[in-house]
Amino acid sequence: MSIETTLILFKPDAVEKNLIGEALRRFEEGGNTVRGIKMMQLSPEILAEHYAHITDRPFYPRLIQFMTSTPVIALALEGENVISVVREKLGATDSPNADDGTIRKEYGLNSMFNICHASDSPETAEVELKRFFKPEELFSFQAEDYLK
Ligand code: PPS
Repeated sequence: MSIETTLILFKPDAVEKNLIGEALRRFEEGGNTVRGIKMMQLSPEILAEHYAHITDRPFYPRLIQFMTSTPVIALALEGENVISVVREKLGATDSPNADDGTIRKEYGLNSMFNICHASDSPETAEVELKRFFKPEELFSFQAEDYLK
């Protein structure tokens, strides 16, 4: 077991369908804690960095158009093995192929309209958290016992 922090982006379909609360409820379940959260309009420049590994894919222009179509919510979430835990809660990239009970199976449409992005490894999470959050936007704190 290791305590990790992952980067989640609530994509424009989640924003448009008012699914932020429902998805966040599921992500927090099991004791995961929000360490940073904000709404932001993504630029083609930040997305070119974020999707540098897929710029040659035929769907890339459509993906950039989609990801800039509304603001998104960026979330830094901390918890035990949270990187793989969140990806399991989300389900497979292509929503119809996601397992029953996952967020994408219930709310996603396909490989693009699939509700959220989530980091896929500790190395990626570190890079992605720095990409979307300034250091002062991430909060590390210990709650008092009376709040637990
Ligand atoms: S890939 O194709 O193997 O790199 O797939 P993957 O890593 O799962 O997906 C990377 C991001 O590309 C999006 N994606 C697509 N968008 C539009 N159309 C199609 N066909 C498509 N296939 C994959 C997918 O949602 C991933 O976005 P992020 O933001 O990383 O979740």
